[in-house]
Amino acid sequence: MPRMDHTTLGATGESISRIGFGGMPLSIQGRPSEEQARRTINAAIDAGIDFIDTADVYCIDDSDIGHNERLIASTVRERADRDRIRIATKAGMRRPNGAWTSDGSPRHIREACEASLRALGVEQIFLYQFHVPDPAVPFEESVEAFAQLQRDGKIRYVGLSNVSLEQLDVARGIVAIESVQNRLNPYFRESIDVARGCAERNVTFLAYSPVGGGRLAKKLPQFDVLQRIAKARDASVHAVVLAWVRQQSPSVVPIPGASKPEHAIDSAKSVDVALSVNEMAAIDDAEFSRD
Ligand SMILES: NC(=O)c1ccc[n+]([C@@H]2O[C@H](COP(=O)([O-])OP(=O)(O)OC[C@H]3O[C@@H](n4cnc5c(N)ncnc54)[C@H](OP(=O)(O)O)[C@@H]3O)[C@@H](O)[C@H]2O)c1
Repeated sequence: MPRMDHTTLGATGESISRIGFGGMPLSIQGRPSEEQARRTINAAIDAGIDFIDTADVYCIDDSDIGHNERLIASTVRERADRDRIRIATKAGMRRPNGAWTSDGSPRHIREACEASLRALGVEQIFLYQFHVPDPAVPFEESVEAFAQLQRDGKIRYVGLSNVSLEQLDVARGIVAIESVQNRLNPYFRESIDVARGCAERNVTFLAYSPVGGGRLAKKLPQFDVLQRIAKARDASVHAVVLAWVRQQSPSVVPIPGASKPEHAIDSAKSVDVALSVNEMAAIDDAEFSRD
């Protein structure tokens, strides 16, 4: 078993790996073959990752809802160590004709939960995250739907995604919130304060698109500061960036995606990279142009 650091999910006492795996690239437009997708998930787990993030809407369009949940669940089910793998999913979006739209209505959340329970083949979802606040539905009503699902035993823990600290605090007045999932990478730093606020509240911050997401992830080798640190650390530039993200706050668990097994393995290895104060500052001060 490779070395892997662990942390605790929020205040739950549940141990999860300090790096998770995000399933999205395996199921959206441009997805790999199913065989390659399964190899990638297995590579992530073999490398020590035991926390996997998915969503009902990681798929091509509304006719394909649950693609990523079924793929991950069926891959994990074939493994002898399946019982220690934690799968988190989400509700609150739809994919009409492939578009990404929000639907935070309690009715949709209840129906999506039933569909995700079936897709994952479980009686209770480990961590159920509200995908994004819906401007057309009062935030409190959406969160209350998650609280009700928890009272009903359909979901174990509740998380939020794409929220501010103010929204987190409103939600915490309704139900225990164990995680917040927001974007955080050197190109997009707007959630650093949320990550720090999560640590103060004993909430796990799941950093999504931690290496920048598809196109921007490929651009990382262009930045000299990353090349220099990667060389000194004998690590990839992506592993250096994952360390920078992780070191923003003790609450952070990056959830990098991958469609190639070697990328999943490399990302898992980033737990071995511990950046110095000077290395952190050098990345802080560098400009990460998105052009
Ligand atoms: N809550 C939300 O609204 C939201 C939004 C976006 C994403 N997410 C979640 O966050 C996860 C991660 O975000 P993401 O997939 O958008 O972006 P990401 O993890 O920043 O980037 C993923 C891409 O980067 C490449 N990559 C990752 N690690 C690498 C490595 N070590 N070396 C080289 N290339 C590497 C992969 O390329 P290959 O494909 O070539 O392997 C992959 O396609 C998603 O899978 C999803 O679970 C959540």
